[in-house]
Amino acid sequence: MNSVVLVTGGAGYIGSHTVLALLEAGYDVVVLDNLCNSTDESLRRVQILAGRAPHFVLGDVRNAALLDAIFKTHRIFAVFHFAGLKSVAESSMQPLAYYQNNVAGTFELCQAMARAGVHKFIFSSSATVYGDPVLVPISEDAPTGSPTNPYGRSKLMAEEFLRDLGKSDLSWRIGVLRYFNPIGAHPSGLIGEDSRGIPNNLLPYISQVATGRFKVLKVFGGDYPTPDGTGMRDYIHVQDLASGHLEALRVIDTKPGVNVWNLGAGRSYSVLEMIRAFELASGRSIPWEITARRPGDIAACWADAAKASVELNWRAKRGLCDMMDDAWRWQSKNPDGYSSVVEPGNGRAP
Ligand code: NAD
Ligand code: WQD
Repeated sequence: MNSVVLVTGGAGYIGSHTVLALLEAGYDVVVLDNLCNSTDESLRRVQILAGRAPHFVLGDVRNAALLDAIFKTHRIFAVFHFAGLKSVAESSMQPLAYYQNNVAGTFELCQAMARAGVHKFIFSSSATVYGDPVLVPISEDAPTGSPTNPYGRSKLMAEEFLRDLGKSDLSWRIGVLRYFNPIGAHPSGLIGEDSRGIPNNLLPYISQVATGRFKVLKVFGGDYPTPDGTGMRDYIHVQDLASGHLEALRVIDTKPGVNVWNLGAGRSYSVLEMIRAFELASGRSIPWEITARRPGDIAACWADAAKASVELNWRAKRGLCDMMDDAWRWQSKNPDGYSSVVEPGNGRAP
């Protein structure tokens, strides 16, 4: 059986957890990553956990000749496309870089797949394509089209051309996965989110307040129409997200064209609830203060996870405590991210 999956961006946060899940499920994996926001140390640790290694290609997803060579060398039957830029704030300052990477990169990859006759494609999209939701929970048929930033628009543009591609030729089997808010880490503490610079997202920031790198967490807005006034989001454990990809890969075989699935837990927590849960997991106190709302933020969003439950037979299994325990284990074992030294043999999953 041909079981080789190409994973672009496989050295990154979600990609590395998914590469591990693929290896554990018996697939062979080729990772293509230019390491612009990661290090191949993540893959070395994936190898420790899986007991075997993915094949790593250092390079850019926009390099058509390299893509052709990869498809020629390896008998790839499906592609998971994680490679891209993901900072909402940076996307407003460097929109061209975001459209180049996230739209043109996806486009180059699909063209190379078409040349190679590979048609199974799982795309990392984001709940950000829904913009400010009219209704929560958000189902897949909720309107898109008004993301609040260039990052979100780059994901939506990619989704739109994928939809055209899927309609044009039903040999394409495309899964568009709209992630809500991925957090957490592998329970071994060996792989996790290695945020470079000042983190934008809530969990990496809270974690680094816990370690003392930052003194106080700024809570962006205390006057939202939510029970405690702070923003509410659907946080999902990165391992649940990874398993959602494997289920989507299983199911797209029977679903020609494009299929969209929300990957979320279907419930939300406020910023203050997240702080309390993290304090409980870490045993550390997290000083916080309410500041102004962050421009572009919405009050609340969570997934209607029913479609993924029915069609993928998938749901998020891990709860808030697991997410916080695992996030803290990763952070405390790796205060400098992947630059931290890990003792040989201490990374086995419990
Ligand atoms: P990440 O930055 O950790 O991983 C992305 C990986 O892609 C990195 O290893 C980076 O080096 C690589 N990469 C970037 N551009 C590349 C290129 N042109 N060629 C080859 N490699 C390239 O990010 P992540 O959190 O793992 O996110 C993975 C995907 O999921 C992204 O597409 C992101 O937009 C999407 N997503 C992430 C979140 C989130 O909150 N983390 C939420 C929704 C969607
Ligand atoms: C969560 C909540 C903040 C930081 C972003 C992207 C989205 C997706 C996931 C990629 C909000 C509050 C945060 C802080 C805070 N990424 N917060 N203080 O904004 O839901 O989603 O990441 O696709 O596209 O927009 O996630 O973690 O930034 O914020 O109070 O220092 O925490 O206001 O309510 P967000 P987040």
